[in-house]
Amino acid sequence: MTAQLAGKIAVITGAGSGLGAAMGRAFARTGMAIAALDIDEPSAQQTATALADEFGVPTTALRVDVGDSGSVAGAARHVEATLGGCDVLCANVGVQQFGAIDRLTEQDWQWVLGVNVLGMVRTVREFLPLLRARSGWRRIVLTASSSVLAPAVRMGAYQTSKFAVMGFGETLREELAGEGIGVTLLFPGGMATRHLASSAKARPAELGASATRKEDLAAMLAHRPLADGDVVTPEHALRNLLAGLIDDVPYVVTHGSHRAVYEQRRDAMDAALDRMEAS
Ligand SMILES: NC(=O)c1ccc[n+]([C@@H]2O[C@H](COP(=O)([O-])OP(=O)(O)OC[C@H]3O[C@@H](n4cnc5c(N)ncnc54)[C@H](O)[C@@H]3O)[C@@H](O)[C@H]2O)c1
Repeated sequence: MTAQLAGKIAVITGAGSGLGAAMGRAFARTGMAIAALDIDEPSAQQTATALADEFGVPTTALRVDVGDSGSVAGAARHVEATLGGCDVLCANVGVQQFGAIDRLTEQDWQWVLGVNVLGMVRTVREFLPLLRARSGWRRIVLTASSSVLAPAVRMGAYQTSKFAVMGFGETLREELAGEGIGVTLLFPGGMATRHLASSAKARPAELGASATRKEDLAAMLAHRPLADGDVVTPEHALRNLLAGLIDDVPYVVTHGSHRAVYEQRRDAMDAALDRMEAS
């Protein structure tokens, strides 16, 4: 099946680094053209150039701020004009903001939800017409987080945003089911990327000082200690993505030890359903 992907077009937000750059490699390896979009223009360009050099596929790079509707709309026009459309859309941008729920400011919430949730909504809204204009195999990938499976303390704004990504993705999958456009939610565990640094860099200066304190990361790790294998390279995290997209699976969980915590929630929900049915 991967042989049939050559010539298709993948659009990736947050492609300048980490998971987005690794998505670019996974798709370019099959012969797909890549649009690398990122708020950090030089890093988007670096990804596009590296993929063109290594795999000989058409690429384009553009500075895009998913927090800005006009910027995302302009990106869709650019991709259509340069590569000719979109078969796979990876709405992958997410920014991280640690902080206890009672210390996160209004501005912190607006930034995290504006980028992680509305940024994803805008990305899908502006690129969906391009996907609809194509035919055959088409997919949307939405990057959530394993923290949806096992929420930790001091990550309230981020986790709330990633739960919203899941709600958005589940609805989108149902709404697009009749059109042959599959929607897959990706739940990455911990990865060795520059996520904290790139989030700090992307945070608008006018938001003022971040509510994050030094002890927040330690508190989060004390609540959900990392086991061996819980932090991996983005390439390893994506080892099942392509197969999952070919099979049109609703969820891809990349790695990590979240099952026990997830099963506690599932069992608690089962018990709630049992009580409801017994009452
Ligand atoms: N790193 C982890 O441990 C981890 C774990 C779970 C989920 N995730 C998720 O994976 C996704 C990718 O993160 P990563 O770890 O590869 O981080 P990364 O920092 O390596 O890549 C994120 C990219 O997004 C870009 N970006 C930030 N704000 C943007 C904006 N407003 N518009 C456009 N681009 C913007 C950054 O410049 C950066 O290049 C995110 O959604 C993140 O929440 C990461």
